[in-house]
Amino acid sequence: SVVPLAEILSDAFDKRYGVPAINVFNDLTLEAVLAAAVERSSPVIVQTSVKTVKSIGSDVLYAMWTSMTAGIEVPVTLHLDHCPDRAVISECLERGWNSVLFDASRLPVQENMRQTIEVVAEARRFGAHVEGEIESITGVEDGIGSDEKAQQQELEVTLDFLRNTKVDVFAPAIGNAHGSYKTEPVLDFDRVSEIVEAYPLPIALHGGSGLSDEQFHNLIARGCAKVNISTALKEKYMKSNLVFLESAASKQKWDPPSLFTSVRQDVIDLAGSFMTLFGSAGRA
Ligand code: 13P
Ligand code: ZN
Ligand code: NA
Repeated sequence: SVVPLAEILSDAFDKRYGVPAINVFNDLTLEAVLAAAVERSSPVIVQTSVKTVKSIGSDVLYAMWTSMTAGIEVPVTLHLDHCPDRAVISECLERGWNSVLFDASRLPVQENMRQTIEVVAEARRFGAHVEGEIESITGVEDGIGSDEKAQQQELEVTLDFLRNTKVDVFAPAIGNAHGSYKTEPVLDFDRVSEIVEAYPLPIALHGGSGLSDEQFHNLIARGCAKVNISTALKEKYMKSNLVFLESAASKQKWDPPSLFTSVRQDVIDLAGSFMTLFGSAGRA
């Protein structure tokens, strides 16, 4: 069933498994990610970027979500990824999104905190949850962010932000980056432990695509309960289309549904493999 984000994350955080938070961008990827969760008996967090909200429209996107999740038995939740725009936050909350990432990481931390407090109050009126971010994660995701190296905040500044805003999940910069890593990522594992030990709150791991199994397991054990995956799915989707379209069979008959069936299976397999890897498979 559709549940609040914090419900999915508190179980994962307590038992130290990770829940894939997967960026979908059309009907096929939305349906396939949900199908993977059902297949693996896993909770899943479905995310939409601002770009996806704008390209499909929040009304159509939300209608797809409600119809595709009707009667679903595994816990699922709909989350708005990196959103610096308060109007889009309000639009999605009003529409029925279960949670939002208010990304004011380009603002000075005091101003970020002031606005995040407002977003949390707004979200609560809808029974919705909020992810907070004070350091922009390196790399551009659907047009949001920058390639500059993220500047970490002091632990005390971070804790102050968490206590004052009461966000439900926090996204720190720990050497992670959006997109595929150009060089081997060097991660600050201890930062996750330091935050969680001082303030036990589920942590969101951004930039999941390109990390190793060991890096995932280490970070999940330290409290990264929400593990974001975007680029890997986009890449799989595009390549799967290419492979199918280049096959001789596809050129004998112009039959779009057979393309969709083939791509859908690849997306299900990829999403499902993250559920198994992060330990959320079998938890639903
Ligand atoms: P990747 O694109 O590196 O998987 O990062 C996903 C992400 O953090 C979405 O917010
Ligand atoms: Zn991200
Ligand atoms: Na990445």
